Amino acid sequence: MTPDPNDTGSGSVASPNGRATAARPRLECRGLAGGRGSVTVFTGLELALDGGRILALVGANGAGKTTLLLTLAGVLPATGGEFRVDGEPVKPGRPRAASRAGVVLVPDDRCLFTSLTVRENLQVAAVRGGPTPDDMLDVFPALRPRIGLAARALSGGEQQMLAMARALVQQPTVLLVDELSMGLAPQVVETLLRTVRDIADTHHCAVVLVEQHVDLALEFADDAVVLNRGRIALHGPANELTATHLEQAYFGGTIDH
Ligand SMILES: Nc1ncnc2c1ncn2[C@@H]1O[C@H](COP(=O)(O)OP(=O)(O)O)[C@@H](O)[C@H]1O
Ligand SMILES: [Mg+2]
Repeated sequence: MTPDPNDTGSGSVASPNGRATAARPRLECRGLAGGRGSVTVFTGLELALDGGRILALVGANGAGKTTLLLTLAGVLPATGGEFRVDGEPVKPGRPRAASRAGVVLVPDDRCLFTSLTVRENLQVAAVRGGPTPDDMLDVFPALRPRIGLAARALSGGEQQMLAMARALVQQPTVLLVDELSMGLAPQVVETLLRTVRDIADTHHCAVVLVEQHVDLALEFADDAVVLNRGRIALHGPANELTATHLEQAYFGGTIDH
């Protein structure tokens, strides 16, 4: 694991996996800054993530994970820097621009239309030429018997599957998943994470995964970034992130090797 080079001001684009980054990473943040109102939450963020890779974004409560995802989804404005999808800059603060670039967010509160059926939730999100609601039943077979039910009648795990399915029918190039496991049993979380892995592999989208079950997230992710007080304290291959690294990066700020 390496401390993040952001603070050096070198201007180089850091790859979280430490390898040379492809010419046009799927998702790239260059000096990105963002916040809530007048409060800066993260700043100087450098990231590059290729298609087919999962980046686990971890950090203590309040570190800025959700704020970063909302910024990438265009829901919150960026206050500095830029981000690109497939090499093209995305206009910040514009959900439609992010959506056109293929950035799709699965928000931590799922944001389903609870009075609409499962099928209707998928139909309203589906894009022309993309996967159909029926295709999603192959990805999430547990939804098949629930397709005609109102979303509010689903269990927490099924609702999360629906939220993921709704993201998939939008054909994401960059999939942002916030706190997938909120209120779910670890077994359900594991099934969902396995699906996220399949999605990254099959659809070749770049996935940024925020997950409170950090151990599980690291198991399924390729790369990991620890966000501490709005800065990347540590990045590297997910399988090299140890408990000691985590503790230091969460609470310390300096990393020993
Ligand atoms: N709706 C909000 N309005 C104002 N500040 C917020 C809001 N949500 C979060 N914050 C603040 O933004 C900072 C980052 O929070 P957040 O991005 O939610 O962190 P995380 O997802 O890592 O827990 C925290 O200081 C938090 O208090
Ligand atoms: Mg959060």
